[in-house]
Amino acid sequence: DKGNHRHFMAKEIHEQPEVVGRTIAHYVDLATGRVKLPTALPFDFAKLRRLVISSCGTAYYAGLVAKYWFERLARLAVDIDVASEFRYREMPLDEGELALFISQSGETADTLASLRYAKGEKQHILSIVNVPTSTIARESDVVMPTLAGPEIGVASTKAFTCQLAVLLALAIAAGRARGTLSEAEEQRLVASLVAVPGAMADSLSSEREIEHLARELAKARDVLYLGRGPAFPLALEGALKLKEISYIHAEGYAAGELKHGPIALIDEAMPVIVLAPHDAVFDKTVSNVQEVAARGGKIILIGEERAVEEAGVATFAAIGMPALDPVIAPIVYAVPVQLLAYHTAVVMGKDVDQPRNLAKSVTVE
Ligand code: F6R
Repeated sequence: DKGNHRHFMAKEIHEQPEVVGRTIAHYVDLATGRVKLPTALPFDFAKLRRLVISSCGTAYYAGLVAKYWFERLARLAVDIDVASEFRYREMPLDEGELALFISQSGETADTLASLRYAKGEKQHILSIVNVPTSTIARESDVVMPTLAGPEIGVASTKAFTCQLAVLLALAIAAGRARGTLSEAEEQRLVASLVAVPGAMADSLSSEREIEHLARELAKARDVLYLGRGPAFPLALEGALKLKEISYIHAEGYAAGELKHGPIALIDEAMPVIVLAPHDAVFDKTVSNVQEVAARGGKIILIGEERAVEEAGVATFAAIGMPALDPVIAPIVYAVPVQLLAYHTAVVMGKDVDQPRNLAKSVTVE
């Protein structure tokens, strides 16, 4: 049932404040303002020397965002690879470490094969899945569910933001166990996490502007997405979402990599979508944007209104985001990224819920 939406994808984008809120409520104790995992862990975060993560597509990008969180908040080294590489990489793993698998369906063949490889290497197996009865869930030592509800649109939206919410809660728990976060820091981070659904609801209010911008994007042959830090994997996710449903070629890049090649592509016909949360690397991102502006690139800046104004860059358009703790920016900024892809595909008359050549669950290699 699509409710009053034209597509499942639209419904699922709009459901996010609710389902992400439900997921967060499953992982935090609102009374104490602390993380409370739904299941006991069969390993001790404090004893780990390394975390390996493996997943595919959008779930892989959730893992890439989590790498920043685990490294920063818990000082835990993270190794991450797409599952189709992980399963054949023959990476050396020390016994008793932790391997994390992220999957909406819980049936993705490469992710499952990676899980089995890690099990053979005597890793503790933790999975984040949306389908609790799935094969990946069954074969894991411990399952952390996302409570996104069934995701029908082929392009993953609400499962992604729910995965991020669980990953942030886990990274906070890891930080506490490893002594890198104090209780006060935990409470501050949990307060930020709890603010996510409201911020997502606010960011949905930019939909009109985004619909308008989509008409412009629909004319493009190629689109570049840029971001730094945890906004870099979000740039990759933006590009994936756009290409899979609109069939426009898009690429995501770490903003600092621009001058190492892709800047050669910039001209007046090239939209460049810049994800610029107001974080520690905001100024660096802004200077990258200036390099694009100097070459006539059509900049679409996604950032906090005040920050974007102060940065004073010449943009083609800006999408204003609510002021927020940068730690939660990857979750909230997913909303405009999804809406841009959705509306561009709708303007172009594409079948957004059933894009060509794609299946919802990839159970073959
Ligand atoms: C993109 C998308 C895919 C999936 C990928 C993994 O929008 O939906 O990239 O994220 O196939 O699927 P799951 O999460 O089911 O393992």
